[in-house]
Amino acid sequence: MRKPKRTAKATATPAPKSAKAPDKKKINSVTLSYGGKTLELPVMHASEGPSVIDVRKLYAETGMFTYDPGFTSTASCDSKITYIDGDAGILRHRGYSIDELAFKSDFMETSYLLLEGELPNKKQKAKFVHDITMHTMLHEQILNVFRGFRRDSHPMAVMCGVVGALSAFYHDSTDINDPHQRMVASYRMIAKMPTIAALAYKYSLGQPFVYPRNELTYAENFLHMCFSVPAEEYKVNPILARAMDRIFILHADHEQNASTSTVRLAGSSEANPFACIAAGIASLWGPSHGGANEAALNMLQSIGTVENIKPFIDRAKDKNDHSKLMGFGHRVYKNYDPRATVMRKTCHEVLGVLGIKHDPLLQIAMELEKIALSDRYFIDRQLYPNVDFYSGIIERALGFPPSMFTVIFAVARTVGWVAQWNEMITDPGKKIGRPRQLYQGANERKYVPIAARK
Ligand code: CMC
Repeated sequence: MRKPKRTAKATATPAPKSAKAPDKKKINSVTLSYGGKTLELPVMHASEGPSVIDVRKLYAETGMFTYDPGFTSTASCDSKITYIDGDAGILRHRGYSIDELAFKSDFMETSYLLLEGELPNKKQKAKFVHDITMHTMLHEQILNVFRGFRRDSHPMAVMCGVVGALSAFYHDSTDINDPHQRMVASYRMIAKMPTIAALAYKYSLGQPFVYPRNELTYAENFLHMCFSVPAEEYKVNPILARAMDRIFILHADHEQNASTSTVRLAGSSEANPFACIAAGIASLWGPSHGGANEAALNMLQSIGTVENIKPFIDRAKDKNDHSKLMGFGHRVYKNYDPRATVMRKTCHEVLGVLGIKHDPLLQIAMELEKIALSDRYFIDRQLYPNVDFYSGIIERALGFPPSMFTVIFAVARTVGWVAQWNEMITDPGKKIGRPRQLYQGANERKYVPIAARK
């Protein structure tokens, strides 16, 4: 095929190193000059963080689009759920810092906060936990969906399929314009995700499926469904359950990341809510996003010894090599990911509880971190450990294989997806998400019958 002539050089410009938000009191509009004309574009102010230039009228007025592949400078929506200051390493849900939530709250309370906007009182929390618990079981026929998968399927493949299949089961909670049905669909997804994740794990092992136990907490129940077998008594270690719960909190939401934006975009067409979450799971799976935890652990394993770190780092810096330092770098954080700080601390705690004095992988991770953080390449690019750098070491110590790490991320992120989906659906200004493009293909040409083609 003839290569179309390029009419414009399209190169992405990285964000400035310390993109300082202009003083929002001073700027209420910006003026765009083009072809001898000017256009005043209003500026909208955030309660915290960068203001945005409202370009909604740009195309109608100028006939031009904005160009921002990868959305490095684009706010796709307004939201009240999560705030990130990437330069300062701050993450807050509904105003509460992730550190406070990780150490003082629990996953059910954080879920309520994300969904409802406020921390629950005792009565509200008890009702919420009860309501979620009432939805932990799966329709028995869904077990047949599992059995259609090959035994060696990756559990994320099973998650994509089974969560998508929920859309064929729960017809009484798919009217997105009915607030009650939206709430039931949301609770069902939060409640059923650990059950689906645990069954995906059991299926891969060839062990019997373990049904949920409603007297257990969310995290305890997940560990129970993953690690108990009908033949033996299983007691969940409360300290490990607490670590599991903290991992869930740390992954619960992260504003407009790839999978959340996918859920919002899928939902903007008013699609079935369960199918929207399946779309989010598919997006999460990639190694640049949630799949990085599995890739980071595989990387640590392949490095194997501290002596191999230096050559691995050289490869990660080499543009002709595809290797990256997995669990390092972030589009938004240009400072230490605050989730990584908590995860690192939790990692030491969990290994301590389990009596693991020397985990060779933790040793490699800590040495790798030290070397990378003093290397010019990583310093210049502001690459720091992210949430996925240490999570795999903890999850492995809890007994999970690497293929389950991204599944655990999906279980936790479901509440974030659901909260953002609800916010999008109830936004009075909601519109179907429909980006445009810079077309660089062939101009109009006449169809040539096959016999006349060279
Ligand atoms: N190892 C080596 N070089 C890196 C890495 C890395 N992990 N991350 C970024 N770079 C380099 C990149 O090559 C580029 O260099 P140059 O300017 O010379 O071309 C520069 O740093 C900027 O990177 P980018 O790819 O333009 O940045 P991005 O914002 O598009 O990508 C990222 C962010 C997270 C996809 C990327 O840092 C990455 O692939 N990291 C490894 C995967 C990972 O850990 N992902 C988990 C993210 S946190 C969990 C989640 O929320 O999903």
